[in-house]
Amino acid sequence: MLADSDRIFTNLYGHNDWRLAGARARGDWDGTADIIARGRDAIINEMKASGLRGRGGAGFPTGVKWSFMPKTIGDLPHYLVINGDESEPGTCKDREILRNEPHKLIESALIASFAMGAHTSYIYIRGEFALEARRLQYAIDEAYAAGLIGKNAAGSGWDFDFFIHRGAGAYICGEETALLESLEGKKGQPRMKPPFPAAMGLYGCPTTVNNVESITVAATILRRGGAWFSALGRPNNAGTKLMAISGHVNTPCVFEEELGVPMREIIEKHGGGVRGGWDNLLAVIPGGCSVPVLPAKTCETVLMDYDSLRAERSGLGTGCMIVMDKSTDIIKAIARFSQFFKHESCGQCTPCREGTGWMMRVMNRMVEGRAEIDEIDMLEQVTRQVEGHTICALGDAAAWPIQGLIRHFRPEMEARIMAYKAKHGGPVSVQVP
Ligand code: NAI
Ligand code: SF4
Repeated sequence: MLADSDRIFTNLYGHNDWRLAGARARGDWDGTADIIARGRDAIINEMKASGLRGRGGAGFPTGVKWSFMPKTIGDLPHYLVINGDESEPGTCKDREILRNEPHKLIESALIASFAMGAHTSYIYIRGEFALEARRLQYAIDEAYAAGLIGKNAAGSGWDFDFFIHRGAGAYICGEETALLESLEGKKGQPRMKPPFPAAMGLYGCPTTVNNVESITVAATILRRGGAWFSALGRPNNAGTKLMAISGHVNTPCVFEEELGVPMREIIEKHGGGVRGGWDNLLAVIPGGCSVPVLPAKTCETVLMDYDSLRAERSGLGTGCMIVMDKSTDIIKAIARFSQFFKHESCGQCTPCREGTGWMMRVMNRMVEGRAEIDEIDMLEQVTRQVEGHTICALGDAAAWPIQGLIRHFRPEMEARIMAYKAKHGGPVSVQVP
């Protein structure tokens, strides 16, 4: 469990002043120019040594991603784009950073931009985050007024501008290339990768897109050292992470914790335990809704980190857990996600556009039990035809929760179908979806 002295987010709950004076009192903006004076390679190497993996959900090593940016700055400008379009269901961790730690974000954005040769950074903030955008703009204005950003930012000799762009409510704009399209003023639709943004990103220029948390922790890592960060957590799963617990727990919350702590311990300590006690737990989705659900018996022992959850055929995702007790209709819960993904699909590739509709319609029937038993296998096959066959990860994200449901809750699905048959008589009339 994380010691208070290793906490990066010291104002996560907003108990203290989030403005510049408060941030400075907590150590932000302390020696920023000295960090920048270490030079680009040193900063990127330190980030690599920290073992930080992307905190948006995919877990790609942050320092490695920074190193993909061209070493020399040619005719094309470089950009850092920060993904604050936090829209994953059950996920509200970046929101707390924007609200309560805006200066930690701005300072880290300056250092990261310098390391990647960018004079400009944009943050794309979820449209619904109105208070958060206002607070961040206030903090940006304070930083400009204090000479911390702008010309010769923080006395570092580096010029740096930071701009907010507000989204308009489309989940797909959180996908990094759809986000870039949207930032350019176009319809938010994902691009094919490669080329990755470091080769061709915003306005066709070298760009790195990082999650809010991945950027915000950078200044503290560079101040305390990569070795300090990598000593927390477990090998290949280093450091602390913001996590959240929502659903059927006694105290839903956002908190900072070391990676590699058992899920059960986290739910007991931070979430106040499952409503009605641990024996009342049915299932947990470990991070948002884009990763497969895990049954209670797995949650007993699994560790909250990338590799442990991957070994259970799920994933850490955003690290924001959705806890469901035995009162949950798990088939209905997963069907709700299917409706969500169908609604949010941008529609440009066929397996996703058509597949999310198919999956949603079959799942809706499964909720009632109005299906045949062998349709469970057919549904599984549809998910396999969507997974890995689309331009972006939304197709995978739509497929995985259903695969998890079938893997762990097939008997419940069959029982629902049999109950429907018993009530209405069989064979069941099935509409072609
Ligand atoms: P991804 O695995 O395709 O990419 C991760 C990052 O690594 C990207 O920035 C990508 O450009 C970079 N990358 C990967 N391979 C690379 C290579 N060979 N060369 C250069 N760069 C490379 O995953 P993606 O689509 O960015 O994220 C999916 C995850 O996002 C999901 O697992 C989900 O958990 C999470 N998510 C989070 C949301 C939120 O609100 N925080 C919303 C929706 C999804
Ligand atoms: Fe659009 Fe879905 Fe294809 Fe992603 S997978 S590009 S959301 S249609």
